[in-house]
Amino acid sequence: MSSVVQRLAELAEFGKYEYGINRGLATPQERKARELFVKWASESAYQLTQDPIGNLFARRNGSDPAAAPILVGSHLDTVPTGGAYDGAYGVVAALCALEQLDSEGVETRHPVEAVAWVGEEGSRFSIGCLGSAVFARLTSLDEAYALRDESGVTLADALASPDGGLLDLPQRSEQRVAAYLELHVEQGPVLEAAGVHLGVVSAITGQIRYRAVVEGMSGHAGTVPMDRRADALSAASEIVLAMEEAAREAGGAVVTVGRLVVEPGGTNVIPARVSFSIDNRSPDVSKMEAIEAAFHATAEKVTKERGVRVMLEKLDVHKPTPMNEELRAALHRVCEAMGQQAPDVPSGAGHDAMCIAKIAPAAMLFVPSIGGHSHVGQERTADADLELGVAALARAIEEVDK
Ligand code: HGY
Ligand code: MN
Ligand code: MN
Repeated sequence: MSSVVQRLAELAEFGKYEYGINRGLATPQERKARELFVKWASESAYQLTQDPIGNLFARRNGSDPAAAPILVGSHLDTVPTGGAYDGAYGVVAALCALEQLDSEGVETRHPVEAVAWVGEEGSRFSIGCLGSAVFARLTSLDEAYALRDESGVTLADALASPDGGLLDLPQRSEQRVAAYLELHVEQGPVLEAAGVHLGVVSAITGQIRYRAVVEGMSGHAGTVPMDRRADALSAASEIVLAMEEAAREAGGAVVTVGRLVVEPGGTNVIPARVSFSIDNRSPDVSKMEAIEAAFHATAEKVTKERGVRVMLEKLDVHKPTPMNEELRAALHRVCEAMGQQAPDVPSGAGHDAMCIAKIAPAAMLFVPSIGGHSHVGQERTADADLELGVAALARAIEEVDK
């Protein structure tokens, strides 16, 4: 078994359960994944550093120590029902690509660093791409440290805990980035349907995450007449369906309410309060605005008709992010030289590259996802594609280094 396949299998053990893999930021199982990354990188004699939010960097020196580093990486955390490849593949492949350059005796001019960004999924602490956003100074460290998970634990405390927190590593000081490359499974059906094994990402979709709360009036399920109710769940349902309708109408936009909590939650009690997540995405900002407008229009309607209160909090906003033209051309040259067809493909999934693209040229390479499945336990990519991606990444590092 190749090291990329074997290493992914080892990582997959951390957080594995019947529905997939659950490896939220600063949990014991996610810390174990970070420790394993450090072990592998140390075995290859790369210099490890860690920044204050927990991002890990494994540096392979170049001939010019003063040059800004090329960063190559992805994330080790997962959604609660994650697969073995989303994120982890890009981190492991970065190490394997550097080791391939070692074995080929290739010396780059730039230092190259394999990176494990923390908290990309935003599954435990509500902001997505948290580690790369703090690194790119899009989110302040204080703001990140103050984030609380559902049980009220702050990220600062979680990172200070011995079983889930920061590792004992030298503090990172280098802030420059010459270029950023991220290899990732496509998480969609396009490459598999096209019968190809590599794709060059054209742009990453725009996305806005929100938290909404609807407050109504609790009461006895049996005695309050229907025309006297302020049922928070019925009101929230109208809002959810209106946003779905707006997304369908707009076309090329998606909206998802993945998490909804009803309080007090008694089966014979009228819902008094509903809080829910909203994940609004499109490559076209105006379509995200149309979905948000549908939220507000329906919120106004249910406030009047149902006597409820509606609140909306924007958690994080990412504009559609085109990938760097020059790096995309370099990736196409590499794929061509490898005799691989590599179409341009948009990313409907968000990635750390959205944040790093704000401070440096960034580009992404995809390998196919079998059946397009992701964020589910049955996420799969063929071993041959995993290995091909590593080979392409090694060549891409050389090409970008020129
Ligand atoms: O949600 C996303 O698109 C990414 O997987 N965090
Ligand atoms: Mn993901
Ligand atoms: Mn990912």
